Amino acid sequence: MRLDKLIETRLQTTRKEMKRLFLMKRVTVDNEVELNPQRNVDSQLHDIVVAGQRLQTNQVYYLLNKPKGVVTAKQDVYHRTVLDLINSKDQRSELYPVGRLDRDTTGLLLLTDNGQLGYDLLQPKEEVAKTYRAVVNELVTEEDVNAFSKGVVFHGGIICQPAELKILFASEKASTVELTIHEGKFHQVKKMFLACGKKVVDLQRLTMGPLTLPADLAVSSYRSLTLEELRQLKKYFR
Ligand code: URA
Repeated sequence: MRLDKLIETRLQTTRKEMKRLFLMKRVTVDNEVELNPQRNVDSQLHDIVVAGQRLQTNQVYYLLNKPKGVVTAKQDVYHRTVLDLINSKDQRSELYPVGRLDRDTTGLLLLTDNGQLGYDLLQPKEEVAKTYRAVVNELVTEEDVNAFSKGVVFHGGIICQPAELKILFASEKASTVELTIHEGKFHQVKKMFLACGKKVVDLQRLTMGPLTLPADLAVSSYRSLTLEELRQLKKYFR
């Protein structure tokens, strides 16, 4: 949560009073004077003290195992959304999915009401790695591995960053692979294979940055991030 918003809501200050607290160096984060009112903080990760008072945040971070058939959106006229999978007691007005999985893609999706964290995780300069397991409708070869490592070129000329393709199983009829990409273009994985003349028939996201899809998290279920998982995201709190 942004420090300025936290101070205004918890201490009921006016905007002017809040700004004055920064000017007077009465705001500290982890024992250091903080001058940036827009700093993103969470009291599970940061010790936030303002004018002698320790402030608590109350933000949520859910790890969802997205099923097929639901759209990654806050609302949709025709389809169920990932927000519909969240129990009413866990809902927050600002809860939203970080990034996007296609309707037929399954797997790891982070939802949070910390908008700043979601925004920062998606910044291209962060190059947050995402690993997908994909089933492809034909033989995936070492040539593909090579092409992916150099940067696949989409039909239309857009060049992808180098990506790591690992073949888990390969046959003429279907191959299973794991692909790690460091960017997030629209339909990226499907388009990378299409550029090599192959079709992805099943796609599951396994990781995003330091987060991994837990083996025991059933499809359509979610849970809060553990403190350890949240700590691994600390470097993205700016
Ligand atoms: N790439 C895709 O093609 N689809 C997804 O859902 C995610 C990455």
